[in-house]
This record gives sequence, C-alpha cells and structure tokens, in this order.
Amino acid sequence: MYRTHYSSQITEELHGKKVKVAGWVYEVKDLGGIKFLWLRDREGIVQVTAPKKKVNEDIFTLIPKLNSEDVVAVEGVVNFTPKAKLGFEVIPEKIEILAKAESPLPLDPTGKVKAELDTRLDNRFIDLRKPEVMAIFKIRSSVFRAVRDFFYQEGFIEIHTPKIIATATEGGTELFPMKYFERDAFLAQSPQLYKQIMMASGLDRVFEIAPIFRAEEHNTTRHLNEAWSIDAEMAFIESEKEVMQLLERLVAYAINYVREHNEKELKILNFELEEPKLPFRRITYTQALEILKDLGKEIPWGEDIDTEGEKLLGQYIKETYDEDLYFIYQYPSEAKPFYIMKYDDKPEISRAFDLEYRGVEITSGGQREHRYEKLKAQIAEKGLNVESFEFYLKAFRYGMPPHGGFGLGAERLLKQMLNLSNIREVILFPRDRRRLEP
Ligand code: ATP
Ligand code: AMO
Repeated sequence: MYRTHYSSQITEELHGKKVKVAGWVYEVKDLGGIKFLWLRDREGIVQVTAPKKKVNEDIFTLIPKLNSEDVVAVEGVVNFTPKAKLGFEVIPEKIEILAKAESPLPLDPTGKVKAELDTRLDNRFIDLRKPEVMAIFKIRSSVFRAVRDFFYQEGFIEIHTPKIIATATEGGTELFPMKYFERDAFLAQSPQLYKQIMMASGLDRVFEIAPIFRAEEHNTTRHLNEAWSIDAEMAFIESEKEVMQLLERLVAYAINYVREHNEKELKILNFELEEPKLPFRRITYTQALEILKDLGKEIPWGEDIDTEGEKLLGQYIKETYDEDLYFIYQYPSEAKPFYIMKYDDKPEISRAFDLEYRGVEITSGGQREHRYEKLKAQIAEKGLNVESFEFYLKAFRYGMPPHGGFGLGAERLLKQMLNLSNIREVILFPRDRRRLEP
C-alpha cells in the first residue's frame, strides 16, 4: 500500500517514525529555502515540509511543480512541532506522483469558488473532495449501518424483493413503465406487496433496504425519482401503535448513532444534532387539522395535509414543544392506500400514520388489512382491478396473521436530520426530472 496512515492517525507516538501518506495535493507553497505541500486524504490534511537542508534535491524541486489535485504518495518522518499549523509535519524522503490532475479543474474542491448545485452534481467526484460534502456521505453510511444494527438487534430478517414488477402498489400513479420481453412491467415504487406476502411465510419480522422508483413529475427539494427506502413489516401486532413504537426507536437509534460516531463530521457541517426525545409526540389527523385551522389554514377533513400545512405544523410543534419529530396518525381511510386497515367501529378512520421530521414526512406506515374479504373490497373501493392483485391476495387465503409496517425514506431522513435544503445533497447521483447522468 502507498499509505500506512491516514492524516488523522498520525499521533504523537509516531514522532520520529517513518510513515507513508497518500492523497490529493491541496496546496503547495514555495518559500525559497523551504517548500510546503499540503496533502488531503479522506480524514483530513497532512503538511509535508521540505527544508532545503533536510531533504534531497529531487524532492525539493518536485514540490513546486505539483498541480492542485495531483495524486501523490509521500514517505517521510513524522515531526511534531508547534511551528506546524496542525501540530505536526512529515519531512519527506520520497514523493511519488501517482496521477496528474488536469487544470483548470471543473469545480473548486476547496469550496472557495462557490458553484451551483448542478455543476457540483456534474462533477460529484470532485464535489466529494470538500470535507463538508464528504461528511454527509460518511453520515449516510452510519445511518445505514445503524439501521441494519437496529433491525438485527430486534430480531428482523433482511429480505430482497423484485424491483421489476407487474402491478402498481401505491395507487397506480408515479410508475416507470418498462418492457419486459412481450409484457408490460414497471419499476417497483415500494416493496409493499412483497413484504406483506412474507408475513404469510412465518418470517414474522422482515426488513429491506433498497431503491424505490417513482416517476415524480415535478422537481421538488424532497422528491427523487430513485430513492432508498428502509422498509419493515412485522406480524402478530395488535395495533398500529406497536409499529409506531418500533419506528420511533429506530429513528432515535439512528440519530443517536450519528451523534456518537460522527462527531467530527457534525463539526465539519457546523451542525448540532439534538438527542431526540422519546416517545415522539402523537397527533391525530383531526387534531392536526384543528391546529392548522387555528394557524389560519383550513383543510377539508379527508384531504391530505399539503406541503404548506406540513411545514406550518412542523413550526408549531417546534415552537410549542421544542420537538422535531412527531407522528400524525388515524388518517382518513380515503387518503390512504387500499392495504391499510380501517378501524372496524369507525371505517372512515384508518390505522395509518406518518412520521414527520421538521415539517416533512419521512415515513408512512400502518396496520394492514389482513382479512381476505375486507382487503378485496378495499382494492375494489379504490377503483383498482382485483384480478391483477391475485398473486398478492393468494397469500391472504392460507393463513395470514395480523401485521403492519412502514417505509422510511432514507434520503428524507438524512435531509431532515442534517436540516439540509435539498434532498439531492444526500444522494451521490440523484435522479430527478432532468438528471440521468452522471
Ligand atoms: P409519498 O407520496 O411517498 O407519501 P410525499 O411526501 O410525496 O410522500 P404525499 O402524500 O404524496 O407525500 O404528498 C404530500 C404533499 O406533498 C402533497 O399534498 C403535495 O402538496 C406535495 N407533493 C407531493 N408530491 C409532489 C410533487 N411531485 N411535486 C410537488 N409537490 C408534491
Ligand atoms: P410512501 O409512498 O409514503 O409509503 O413512501 C414511504 C416513504 O418513502 C419516501 N419517499 C420518497 N423519498 C424521496 N423521493 C421520493 N420520490 C419519495 N417517495 C417516497 C418518503 C416516504 O415517507 N408502502 C408505503 C410504506 C408502508 O406503508 O410501509 C409507502 O411506500 O420518506
């Protein structure tokens, strides 16, 4: 390996010892008798100091010829000294150029020259060389790790369901059609039907982390056409409240994991991530409409709470209770998909919930209708073709336990967690209305 240590691993015990560091040329400075090279790796910066008297001639002449963002490997001796800005330097014995960088660069990786989001996304590999951008993706990695940890700890089994499917799951809109040999098919909008089928298998508690595809017409700051969904489904529940309890613990676990493991990244982002208070506040849909009415926004009962309403509610909860996360539950049945269970004694109300984070929906979920006849009736009620759901309905005829689950949008969670203004910031190569490459 060209590297024995990352910049962050060079500690005082290494004083006087030989190390190999490698990375991109961040800056070069020529002060005549002394040349400096600042090298950037994933974890930070290393100062390479070349005093004329201490290093060989080749190294001394090479340093000023380096271009910004050339890739170099440096072998040298660690010197801890208060003279160095970072507290230490490496006195080079060997410098190797591993790759040259063309100039000018299409994007300034120091961030001194501001760039539009589009330019940044077109040059994502350079964009990530900025510590504040890389920090987001280190946090993203932590969130996925935390989520998996949590599910395993809770006895969930990871499953993988098809992404090429024959039927719509979320109402038939927002589908990407595709040709599947002689047949028409679609990219999956959600693993909904398959995770539910698995409840009839005896796996009991399953989760899936996979992309979902939605042909969102508009460009918004919280919709992607390819997003990552964290889906869970659990059997033998007595009500949707048990699903809500699992979800709130999952989200709190992920946030606390980031607080613990990404202190450095949060500092780079200059962001204080607060510890979430458990349990999250629960507001019924009807209460939410009442709050909104008091705030001057009237939404007719039965209609979905729109983007503006969600935002107002988020502000209200923050100002009144100083909380960022809260559930809206007991949604009207007409506003939710066919697979959601209705309250038997009040069929206009459903066992569906959303989890909101700073005024944006990050999760939908609920208890499902597991009773075959009722489910069939609900599919027909929504104007859908019951026959096309036969592969799904079959699972409800041979022993389907009561169950429920949720879909948590990973990018929504990350965007709201870090309070970022655009969902494109948290996915490497966003797919939106205009973007199909890189
Ligand atoms: P999901 O559709 O997965 O439930 P969502 O956040 O899009 O997630 P919706 O219930 O579809 O939730 O929409 C909530 C509100 O967001 C809608 O009432 C609408 O005002 C707004 N909205 C939804 N989709 C779009 C879109 N593609 N463009 C602009 N606004 C949208
Ligand atoms: P829903 O359609 O609400 O529910 O989606 C669940 C969550 O997925 C995320 N999400 C998106 N994120 C980014 N871009 C998009 N275009 C996008 N669409 C959805 C959101 C949303 O809350 N089957 C149900 C879940 C369930 O009941 O288990 C479903 O798909 O964070």
